[in-house]
Amino acid sequence: MSRSIQQLFDLRGKTALVTGGSRGLGLQLARALGEAGATLMLSSRKAQDLEQAATALKSDGIEAHWIAADCAQDAEINRLADETLAQFGRVDILVNNAGASWGAPAEDHPVEAWDKVMNLNVRGYFLLSQRIAKQSMIARRSGRIINVASIAGLNGNTPAMNTIAYNTSKGAVINFTRTLGAEWGKYNITVNAICPGFFPSKMTAGLMATIGEDRLAAAAPLQRLGDDEDLKGLCVLFASDAGKHITGQWLAVDGGASVVSCG
Ligand SMILES: NC(=O)c1ccc[n+]([C@@H]2O[C@H](COP(=O)([O-])OP(=O)(O)OC[C@H]3O[C@@H](n4cnc5c(N)ncnc54)[C@H](OP(=O)(O)O)[C@@H]3O)[C@@H](O)[C@H]2O)c1
Repeated sequence: MSRSIQQLFDLRGKTALVTGGSRGLGLQLARALGEAGATLMLSSRKAQDLEQAATALKSDGIEAHWIAADCAQDAEINRLADETLAQFGRVDILVNNAGASWGAPAEDHPVEAWDKVMNLNVRGYFLLSQRIAKQSMIARRSGRIINVASIAGLNGNTPAMNTIAYNTSKGAVINFTRTLGAEWGKYNITVNAICPGFFPSKMTAGLMATIGEDRLAAAAPLQRLGDDEDLKGLCVLFASDAGKHITGQWLAVDGGASVVSCG
């Protein structure tokens, strides 16, 4: 007998590690997984922000723990994976979300900033996925990896936005997702990507101020920016048994912004 839709989306008994889970999109994704029943490990660099996020989640009945770690550094990534596994015994769901951006015209983009963005947004996703899969998911023949990419990984930007390293990194995350999904299907590990459009967050605050929230919203067919619930449904679909036959895919959550062209 097939399971009910409630059973398929149920994450009770599952454990989830969410990088960049202290605020913004990562916190929204963590909250979605927690509300569906998962026990959470949040991570980012600043302990104080993590403590605040975990306290807010706990006050809503979600079991939330945290580990401060820098996902741009190999040793820190390994420590994050190992400490999470020591505490939880396994990781069922990994959300690679911690990311950074840099604005500069391509001709003047500092190479140090290029490396910083690529290290965190691509290398960090790869190293943490590899560590968690090797220490937990492959042996258990079970796992869900969700990579936060961006619609910036699908197209070039308008001339007002100079983020070549960021766009390149997010394009890489999309093909990383396809390739890893293809390789690790044999281990029953699904790998999928979410491509958000514009969501207000610390990362986009400068852009919102420069270009204007109204103009950014008007660029999407639905005429709105993303809010603090728009990523929840897709995240739980990718994380749960409801999505067990989906791998190597990306889906934009962007009010339709990525489907229109101004040409
Ligand atoms: N907001 C949008 O419109 C939008 C659109 C498309 C895609 N995205 C993607 O969504 C993800 C989250 O972005 P956001 O908008 O929520 O940004 P945000 O508010 O700046 O949050 C970034 C998170 O990542 C953490 N982080 C940054 N550098 C880190 C590092 N080196 N190691 C570990 N954690 C680190 C931050 O905490 P600490 O600073 O304390 O480390 C924070 O928790 C990113 O991958 C971004 O590219 C965002």
